[in-house]
Amino acid sequence: MISRFAGAMIVPPNRWMMEDCVDGSYSVDAYVEDLRRIVGGIADEGKIFDELGPLAQRLATEPSWRKPEHETFNPEQGFSVHVLHEEPDHTLAVFVVSWEPGNGVVPHDHGTWAVVAGIEGQERNTTYARLDDRSRPDYAEIEVKTEALASPGDLVCIKTGGIHSVWNDSDKVTLSLHTYGTHVNYTRRHQFNLETNAAEEFKVSVE
Ligand SMILES: [Fe+2]
Repeated sequence: MISRFAGAMIVPPNRWMMEDCVDGSYSVDAYVEDLRRIVGGIADEGKIFDELGPLAQRLATEPSWRKPEHETFNPEQGFSVHVLHEEPDHTLAVFVVSWEPGNGVVPHDHGTWAVVAGIEGQERNTTYARLDDRSRPDYAEIEVKTEALASPGDLVCIKTGGIHSVWNDSDKVTLSLHTYGTHVNYTRRHQFNLETNAAEEFKVSVE
């Protein structure tokens, strides 16, 4: 089961999945087809994670679809969002996110569910608990809940409302595969300042 780990633990890939993708048979198009089928038939986010998580791990460890531009990052942002797929109504977005060495993203939510699978390098994923009563839209008290290093093939599943940060502590660009229930620039999402407790809506630059 993946759902009970949602937002809190790293789930390593199963050995059969690693072996199964050696022939390069799993494509982005096939993943999107599976994604549509799963989301079309399941409403519960934990069950979506159970079904989709292993497939995201499989695509993340299948290198045939990768392109050299996925390795590039936006130095102003500290990472780049490379779109692999986005539905016309902005749901079901699939990205490769490349992270600048020594950079990352502050605590944030997504306004939707997220399934993240490691592609290359090791990324530090920290999850946070929300402590305040959510009565003020520009204020949030959060504290660290868990911290784990995600390696290629590892999975991080975050339910709607979950808060995490990602950091690349290494000296090389890291890559991860991100799948969202809705494109994150079309949700109401926030980033959080641990020192000032400020919460503000934000969008990301997309390649
Ligand atoms: Fe995120």
